[in-house]
Amino acid sequence: MFIKQVLLDRAPAGGYPFDLPAVRALRERGGLKLPSPVTLLAGDNGTGKSTLVEAIAVAAGFNPEGGSTAFNFATRPSESVLGEHLVLSRVPGRRPRTGYFLRAESFYNVATEIERIGEIVAGYGGVSPHERSHGESFLDLAIHRFGPAGLYLLDEPEAALSVQGCLALLLRIAELVQLGSQFVIATHSPVLLACPQATIYEIGKAGDIAEIGYDQADAVVLTRAFLADPGRFLQRLFEE
Ligand SMILES: Nc1ncnc2c1ncn2[C@@H]1O[C@H](COP(=O)(O)OP(=O)(O)OP(=O)(O)O)[C@@H](O)[C@H]1O
Ligand SMILES: [Mg+2]
Repeated sequence: MFIKQVLLDRAPAGGYPFDLPAVRALRERGGLKLPSPVTLLAGDNGTGKSTLVEAIAVAAGFNPEGGSTAFNFATRPSESVLGEHLVLSRVPGRRPRTGYFLRAESFYNVATEIERIGEIVAGYGGVSPHERSHGESFLDLAIHRFGPAGLYLLDEPEAALSVQGCLALLLRIAELVQLGSQFVIATHSPVLLACPQATIYEIGKAGDIAEIGYDQADAVVLTRAFLADPGRFLQRLFEE
């Protein structure tokens, strides 16, 4: 564990991203505690998960477009200024030995940068991410580049992954947690939400941030209801 709490300093009250309900909630609830080695951020599209993960990454010293702390390229800056207003409460005496900020949205640019700076052979299983499928390159990254005692901020890592791929990632996360790593992950995946030893926060439509159990997560409840009887589920949906 490296970061035990995320706090908002005296940031402006108005304008994006400070007017986002989730950011207001962050201020009102006095920050977000990260009591477990894995923190999962769930919630519907547009509730603010990426904004939060990216801001934590920026506050932790990562490039806003993703990569390790050694990356500082920019293709099209789109990050919010929230990261400059987050204060990370760190565990005394504990510094991550390595780390990664993975944004599904801009992994292509990270792959280009990996080729440019020649990080390939050392850290990605010997193959450029551009010569692997989307999911293969993600798993290469988690298996070969992620290491013990690391801080990992992942935004929808499931975007590239099959269900088997998600399970492989979950295993790797559990292994890295045993080796002293910490993860903060925004996800819609009912598989990744089952990460052992995780704290799940779900951001509601109104921006409210609640700690919930696995069985309460919307993604889990809805997927269960759908899979129990897809035909009936769709019929009801079409009727509505
Ligand atoms: N540059 C911007 N200016 C204004 N609003 C923005 C900007 N970028 C994002 N937003 C808004 O902020 C809100 C939160 O976006 P965010 O990307 O954090 O959501 P999310 O929870 O990650 O959603 P998803 O599950 O779809 O990835 C959205 O309503 C979005 O429209
Ligand atoms: Mg997002």
